[in-house]
Amino acid sequence: MRILVPGGAGFIGSHTCLALLEKGYEITVIDSYINSHKKSLQRVLDIVKRNNRVKNISIDIEIADIRDEKAVEKLFIRYKDLGNPIKAVIHFAGRKSVQESVLDPLLYWDVNVNGSINLLRVMDKYNCRTIVFSSSATIYGFSNSLPLKENSEIKPINPYGRTKVAIEQILNDTYNNQTDKWKIANLRYFNPIGAHSSGIIGESPIGIPNNIFPYITQVAAGILDQLSIFGQDWPTLDGTCVRDYIHVMDLAEGHIAALEYLNNFEKKLVNLNLGTGLGTSVLELIDTFEKVNNVKISKNFAGRRIGDSCKVVADNCLALSCLNWSPKRDLEKMCLDGWKWQILNPRGYD
Ligand code: UD1
Repeated sequence: MRILVPGGAGFIGSHTCLALLEKGYEITVIDSYINSHKKSLQRVLDIVKRNNRVKNISIDIEIADIRDEKAVEKLFIRYKDLGNPIKAVIHFAGRKSVQESVLDPLLYWDVNVNGSINLLRVMDKYNCRTIVFSSSATIYGFSNSLPLKENSEIKPINPYGRTKVAIEQILNDTYNNQTDKWKIANLRYFNPIGAHSSGIIGESPIGIPNNIFPYITQVAAGILDQLSIFGQDWPTLDGTCVRDYIHVMDLAEGHIAALEYLNNFEKKLVNLNLGTGLGTSVLELIDTFEKVNNVKISKNFAGRRIGDSCKVVADNCLALSCLNWSPKRDLEKMCLDGWKWQILNPRGYD
């Protein structure tokens, strides 16, 4: 079964491509490489070849933006003509920085929303109506009671989050049309961290990371001087913010579980939280990282970061019950695997 993976060269995309290939799916990736690295998919292939002792495995890669309708259509035509049509899409393509979205909201609406509309239009034209969409817990905003359920209030507080909500709404309207039968899973990610246990693929942020985990690994490696902890006066046990960190391979496997779940239906729309359901504070994350890896993280306390929530933790019961999936890798494993990736690749893919 051939799957199209827009944005498949990025952090979560590349780990999902690996999981797909290991389960025997054929994949085609379309990626602009604007915020990802050419080497990631080559390394995915290296891992699959090594683990499965296979030689002739490949990923068809198209370097293009999903707003480019002709480029997307070309892929659907190619596989239709080969008698191996694209059967489903796992859609990661889009911009993902909250800060950048505030500075350039039009870019975010154009790439994320127009890109998705373009993709859906081409899918519809070629009778491919199964899509797993990369949404985010950021859509819940911060006025909710915890843990966050799929029916908690949707109240994004930045342009990035609003584009994710808009795409979910477009998918909802697409699903509700009377003529065609769509199968749609909106996966709301919590905080993906870690890396594949081989240390061969991982997160490779361009420039100084905004997210805490790559920041920690770069401080531990001596690339960055010190981690600033944003706030020590939050109403939590130790005063630092709480998040639901999930191993990127558990998240990747969640995508395949969602795809296989959709295949049980003629028509389906489902929103699912992909998190562990466990809250970890910033200090707990740092402590665990230091302990399991036997390293020291130089740190200081800074003021709260604008737009941060105190606690963001998933209620993942729906995903657990629907998908026959559960996160298997604990915080220690996330820290071990993320550090292995950092040590083996001090400058990421560069
Ligand atoms: C951020 C985004 C979210 C996105 C997610 C992707 C914001 C407001 N939210 O979530 O939309 O889906 O990344 O993973 O940007 N922290 C520090 N020092 C740092 C960096 C972070 O103390 O240098 C703290 C933050 O205050 C937060 C926690 O670490 O409490 C996690 O931060 P981060 O990794 O940026 O993720 P989120 O803010 O949860």
